Amino acid sequence: MQVLFVTSEAFPLIKTGGLADVSGALPKAMKSLAEFNGDIKILIPAYRGLLDQLIDAKPIASIQALKQSCILFSGQLPDSDVEVIAIQNDSLYDRIGGPYTDENGNDWSDNALRFGVLSRVASLLTRLDSPLPWQPDLVHCNDWQTGLTPAYMKLLDQVSAKSIFSVHNMAYQGNFNSDVMSQLELPLAHFKINGFEFYHQVSFMKAGLFYADQLSTVSPTYANEIQTESYGFGLQGLLKLRSLDLTGILNGIDTQAWNPSIDPHLIKHYSSKNIRGKKGIKKDLQRKLGLNADENAPLLGVVSRLAYQKGLDLLAPIIPQLVAEGCQIAILGSGEKALENTFLQLQQQYPDAISVTIGYNEPISHAIMAGADLFIMPSRFEPCGLNQLYGLAYGTPPIVSATGGLVDSVRDTNTDSIKHHTATGFVLKDITDASLLETIQTAITYWQDKKTWRKIQNNGMKTEVSWLSSAHLYLQLYQKTISSA
Ligand code: ADP
Ligand code: GLC
Repeated sequence: MQVLFVTSEAFPLIKTGGLADVSGALPKAMKSLAEFNGDIKILIPAYRGLLDQLIDAKPIASIQALKQSCILFSGQLPDSDVEVIAIQNDSLYDRIGGPYTDENGNDWSDNALRFGVLSRVASLLTRLDSPLPWQPDLVHCNDWQTGLTPAYMKLLDQVSAKSIFSVHNMAYQGNFNSDVMSQLELPLAHFKINGFEFYHQVSFMKAGLFYADQLSTVSPTYANEIQTESYGFGLQGLLKLRSLDLTGILNGIDTQAWNPSIDPHLIKHYSSKNIRGKKGIKKDLQRKLGLNADENAPLLGVVSRLAYQKGLDLLAPIIPQLVAEGCQIAILGSGEKALENTFLQLQQQYPDAISVTIGYNEPISHAIMAGADLFIMPSRFEPCGLNQLYGLAYGTPPIVSATGGLVDSVRDTNTDSIKHHTATGFVLKDITDASLLETIQTAITYWQDKKTWRKIQNNGMKTEVSWLSSAHLYLQLYQKTISSA
């Protein structure tokens, strides 16, 4: 089984969110399965600085895609045996800014071409005239940036290789003005409802959903949700039509990168057997963030993109009340400017109790995950979510809303679930600020009872959140897709 894993981000090379975590960890996990007989390589654009991070990067071929001349580089993903093929085209990818946006957060105006080229290169590598000696029999595409690959494979190349399209977030679809069609070399005849057209636009996401042989998404609950109007962002009809081809597989976590007993970002290490180090990390974190170093103040952690999806606008209005009740809150995130400013103002108002770090910061994210007592994630929708899984593994019980992967990974705490050793976190009744406040208050009551709290922490830390079982499910999906007619 030869698999090409196509993605627009992969940790530790480039990351804006959970897609990078998955892309950096799943191929490694697949390769480590004894039952996986074959290879899996990552295909990714060579953004600025990416080639320098690859181990032993060297050019292996040149290729023309959508009239753009590209050089393919091959190297190893750091700390792994996974090969990465990086597409070098400096005018498309060598830029200051993020993978999708410039420094001011505006989408690059040529994103259709930038990710069209990624998608086109992937499909060209499945053809007999590919410039590489290695040929995939399965292409695993991830999110809209790779959505045109299955369309190219079916419409232009008619190859025997199969494709899987995995949805990590229905909210981002890559819909572009129909002008881009000729540049993307998409056949006009398929600009229709049974094709890649979506409300008069070219939709990368819809192309992936329509043309891929099999579909998956990142949790069983989200797989059901996206077939409904509330979560499908207009594509629920197509997803319902293809529901027999759609599988929900929960993400796992990279237990090398996210493990409190070896995490290099932590000043002390701990495990479920010996959790003492967590206290010291909290104290150090409070000091570094300018909070009162009071171990009796419950410290709530937030690490997140500040977007509507994440529901953190529900946290802001209840902060004064939480502070009045003696809570501390450590927030790390960036995104919507209005919400960034609201949090910054609250920090000014309560400097001893609220800490706000705007930006992206890997070390602080690990320190908050380990040092906080509770992790807050009131998402309005959440395809899978990785932070709640990190919270479980770090003995920092998550407070989550009842949606998507949060439902599939966190068990609410009550008398019954404590008795049965299944309690791992706290689930909101509704996605409202009142419900968030009530759930935090309930969680703090449990936190004050140290013996019960240790049980809840332990249940979470013992929960299987590694990639092992999910990698097996992907293997089954890979086998099913390859053997399908
Ligand atoms: P999403 O992909 O929707 O943003 P996930 O929970 O799946 O949500 O993954 C988010 C990932 O990004 C996690 O690894 C989280 O720690 C990380 N992350 C989010 N915001 C920041 C930030 N400001 N600094 C560091 N890491 C962040
Ligand atoms: C998306 C989703 C998140 C998921 C991640 C990785 O960014 O928002 O819920 O965990 O992809 O699959």
